[in-house]
Amino acid sequence: MSPRFAHITGWGMAVPDKVLTNDDLVKMVDTNDDWIISRTGVRERRIAGSDQSTASLASDAAMRALEVANVHPGDLDMIILSTSTPEYIFPATACLVQDQIGAGKAGAFDLLAACTGFLYALNLGSQAIKSNGAENILIIGSETLSRVVNWKDRNTCILFGDGAGAFVLQASDEPGGILSAVLRSDGSGGDLLSVPGGGSRHPASMQTLYDGLHYIQMNGRGVFRFATRVMAEATQQTVESAQLTMDDIQLLIPHQANQRIIEAAARRLDYPMEQVMVNVDRYGNTSTASIPIATVEALEQGRLKPGDNTVMVAFGSGLTWGAVLVQWSGPIPFQRKVSPRKVRWFARTRSLLARLRRRIEGLLWGSE
Ligand code: UT7
Repeated sequence: MSPRFAHITGWGMAVPDKVLTNDDLVKMVDTNDDWIISRTGVRERRIAGSDQSTASLASDAAMRALEVANVHPGDLDMIILSTSTPEYIFPATACLVQDQIGAGKAGAFDLLAACTGFLYALNLGSQAIKSNGAENILIIGSETLSRVVNWKDRNTCILFGDGAGAFVLQASDEPGGILSAVLRSDGSGGDLLSVPGGGSRHPASMQTLYDGLHYIQMNGRGVFRFATRVMAEATQQTVESAQLTMDDIQLLIPHQANQRIIEAAARRLDYPMEQVMVNVDRYGNTSTASIPIATVEALEQGRLKPGDNTVMVAFGSGLTWGAVLVQWSGPIPFQRKVSPRKVRWFARTRSLLARLRRRIEGLLWGSE
């Protein structure tokens, strides 16, 4: 059997309209614009409105990615949604997205590897395609971190923002696409960055609320030291495993956590900052959504072209870190068949009919 390759053929992003600037934050906590910019590079971030959620941002990004790839949701085999801010503990947010976009024959599940999650999902999807397990896979990174940030804690609230990004992965005999990946973890550092409340260790209670355990807790300096070490290491490892060198990489797309961490990684790699994608200034840290959002903007700015090699590299809570090397494919020429408006209408109707069927079954069985 000839080898199969997993190509990224669609991409999309969705961010809330509401912008929260550093000056807005000055009115909420004891901070200032100069400190935030010099320590993090962040100037503003997006905050989800009350009608938005991790699933709704994910569905919007997904529809855009499906439109670029010209893949109908009904042709998806799998949806992998990476998030640290799911709608519920269960069901999986991926299943809500499956319903919202009407992906009738797709399996759907959430993946939790914090800010590195999108790369875990990308590699998992790529392996499923390469082993003949799937043809079309939707990979999503989506977060509403504003809902777990303590807006009175200046150590964390200045960093994070909301948003979503998505890729469509498709099988092909053409060489290219996902070339190599390195994924790592070290649970001994789990306490450096966590949301400890609301799980089975600290079930939600008046006490967990009182102690603020439902908010992000972070040891910033500890995470910073870890991040600057692993970003360069993982990039080098994934480049070597594809038998390439950094000279073969046209663009580095790092997790957008902090401008200083990104610059430190580039220095360690002796790689020019002009070839590093940075947009942390406008979105802050959107965790697992940051890499697909940065990729979409790199494409819009013409910084990534078919045939280019790019390394996506991330670190996060867990601790987790990793890198994925992609030979960029770009969309395949097509006759357009995906109309987002029709797809949404079909998905809503499909969902209503499924709920109606369940209600009728309940009535019938209830009367037996
Ligand atoms: O996806 C992964 C997510 N997490 C990260 O990426 C976090 C990585 N870490 C970082 O980005 C940095 O550690 C921070 C940006 C969080 C903090 O920067 P830092 O240079 O490590 O500052 P620091 O925590 O060492 O604090 C330095 C000073 C402290 O004051 P004293 O003790 O020196 O008097 C802080 O209290 O800055 C103070 N400080 C602030 N001042 C103004 C901390 N936060 C603020 C603030 N505004 N928002």
